[in-house]
Amino acid sequence: MIIAKWFKSRNVGALLGLVGVLTVAGCVSTTESSRATEEVQTQSPRRPLVIAHRGASGYLPEHTLEAYIRGMEMGADFVEPDLVMTKDGVLVARHENEISDTTNVASVFPDRKTTKVIEDAKVTGWFVEDFTLAEVKKLKAKQRLAFRPQMDQQAFLVPTLAEIIDAVDQYNTKHGKKIGIIPEIKHSTYFRSVGLNIEKELLRVLAEKTWSQKLDQVYIQSFEVGNLRELAATTKYSLVQLLGDPKESPYDLKSKKITYRDMVTNEGLREIRKYAMALGPYKKYLVVENNAKDDSLVANDVLKNARLLDFRIFPYTFRNESFFILKPLTDPMKEYEFFYKLGVDGVFSDFPDTAVKALKAVESVLN
Ligand code: G3P
Ligand code: CA
Repeated sequence: MIIAKWFKSRNVGALLGLVGVLTVAGCVSTTESSRATEEVQTQSPRRPLVIAHRGASGYLPEHTLEAYIRGMEMGADFVEPDLVMTKDGVLVARHENEISDTTNVASVFPDRKTTKVIEDAKVTGWFVEDFTLAEVKKLKAKQRLAFRPQMDQQAFLVPTLAEIIDAVDQYNTKHGKKIGIIPEIKHSTYFRSVGLNIEKELLRVLAEKTWSQKLDQVYIQSFEVGNLRELAATTKYSLVQLLGDPKESPYDLKSKKITYRDMVTNEGLREIRKYAMALGPYKKYLVVENNAKDDSLVANDVLKNARLLDFRIFPYTFRNESFFILKPLTDPMKEYEFFYKLGVDGVFSDFPDTAVKALKAVESVLN
C-alpha cells in the first residue's frame, strides 16, 4: 500500500514547472496507463544491447569522447553518458558532481576546494556546478582506477552532451549505423536545489540536435523517481528506472522510507511500470544470493516478474576484472553468457568488446 502512494505529494508542482519547456522535445501529454499500454503493444523480443558504460571505460578514461568512440568501434549499440551540469547550465559527462577523482581540477583550481552536503552526505572537493563550461574545458580528464590503463601521456577533455551527440551522429553517418545514447541524470534533486534543471536541458539539447524523434535511439535513466515520473508525462523517450543498493532509497523517496528492495516487489514493479518501460538493476538483483557452493549462478524471480509486466532489463555493470564478476563465476565470458541466456535486454559494460564477443558466442541459442 505504501508503495502505491510513492509519488503523489511530489509530482504536480514539479510537473507544472517542466510542461512549459518541453514542447520542443517530442513531447506528449500521455497518461501513465496509456503510456504503459502503448509500450506493451510495441515491445518485442530483440537481441540484447551492448551499452558502452561511461564509454569503453575499461580502456580509456571514463566519459571522454575517446572512450565513447572506442565503445562504438568495439560494437556497442548505445553509449552511456552520466550527466551533471556546470554553473552556466551546460550538461557535461561526469559520474559525480565532485570531479577531482576524474579530472586534474585540484591542480588547476587549488583554491576552489569546498565542502557541501550532497544527498545528505558531507562531501569535500571540487564541484562541477561551481565551474563554468569555459573553466571545465581547462581540465584534463583522467583515469579514476589505479588498476586500469592510466593514459597519462594523452590529454582528454570533459565532453558536453552536445559534443557526445555530435560524435555519435558522425560515427553513425560514417558507418551507416544507428547507435544510440542512454544518458543518466545524476543528482536530479540536488541540482534543482541549486537552481539547475538537468531534465529540462537534456530535452533541449536532444531537440537542438534533432534527436526528438529518434525514440529508438534514446533511453533516459535515473536512480531517482520523481524526475522519471515527470518525463513520462511529458516526453515519449523510453525511461529506465535504475535500482541501487537494496537497502537504500532513491534520494527523492528517502523520507517515504521506500527502498530499492521494495521497488522490485510485484507491487513495486507495477508502480514503476506506470512511468518506465525498463529497469537498470545492479546485476545481483537477478540472481539467488549466497550461492557460493555451486559452480554457476542461479536466477531468482525478479527478471521473470519484470517480464510479466513487459519491462526491458538492462543490468549493470559488467567488467572484465575478476573481482567484479559475480561469484562463483570468475570468467567474464561466462557471466555475460549467464545473463544473455537469462533473457536480459542489454548489458552496461566497461568492456564492450568482451560483451560483443560473448554475445556472438551465444546469439544462436537466444530466442
Ligand atoms: O546507469 C547504469 C549504471 O551506470 C549505474 O551505475 O554508478 O555506474 O552510474 P553508475
Ligand atoms: Ca550510469
